[in-house]
Amino acid sequence: MSKGMFITIEGGEGAGKTTLIRLLAAELEAQGLPVMTTREPGGIPIAEKIREVILDTSHTSMDGRTEALLYAAARRQHLVEKVVPALDAGQWVICDRFIDSSLAYQGYARGLGMETVREINRYAIESWMPDITLYLDIPPELGLARIAASSQREVNRLDLEKESFHRKVRQGYLLLLEQEPERIVMLDASGEPEEILKEACRVILNAR
Ligand code: TYD
Repeated sequence: MSKGMFITIEGGEGAGKTTLIRLLAAELEAQGLPVMTTREPGGIPIAEKIREVILDTSHTSMDGRTEALLYAAARRQHLVEKVVPALDAGQWVICDRFIDSSLAYQGYARGLGMETVREINRYAIESWMPDITLYLDIPPELGLARIAASSQREVNRLDLEKESFHRKVRQGYLLLLEQEPERIVMLDASGEPEEILKEACRVILNAR
């Protein structure tokens, strides 16, 4: 059986990743492709527990390195327990966030250094990397306003960061885009979901 495709979706808060993943999975399934969707941090019981610890709004004293290590630990378990077996079974895995989130949030915005965070993650993910990454770009003020207007989305510890933090997250992603233009493709997330879906499908099917 042929190997599946590992697709990751990245972006700042309120970029619309969840909506895009839902539409994208339906579209690829309609084309007869076997799709599995999942998310980070979480996706399996051990990683969901780590997620609770990381995102608990009462954990205001969490050290930046602790945060980075916990994300990497959740990533490792999720990768070996869920993502790799699915890819080996020929599935197309669409994952909400992966290593680029750690590089942008912990490495750049938190100031731990992108190379340091990359090192931690090399240990966690070995040589596994996405085949293609869609980065949904949105001005932070627009993304945060979308979250504030949505009753479906619970506020987490990272949402509580100041707008300047979210601006840095965006700068971090833009740096990653410069470093890996072959793997990471930027989509304008301020438009209509159907338009973004069309573009996402085009990029993914081209990368196949
Ligand atoms: P989530 O509720 O999934 O937010 P979103 O809908 O924006 O994806 O919470 C995940 C939060 O964790 C989000 O604020 C981004 C952050 N995060 C990191 O800081 N580093 C990481 O490596 C990952 C995977 C997520």
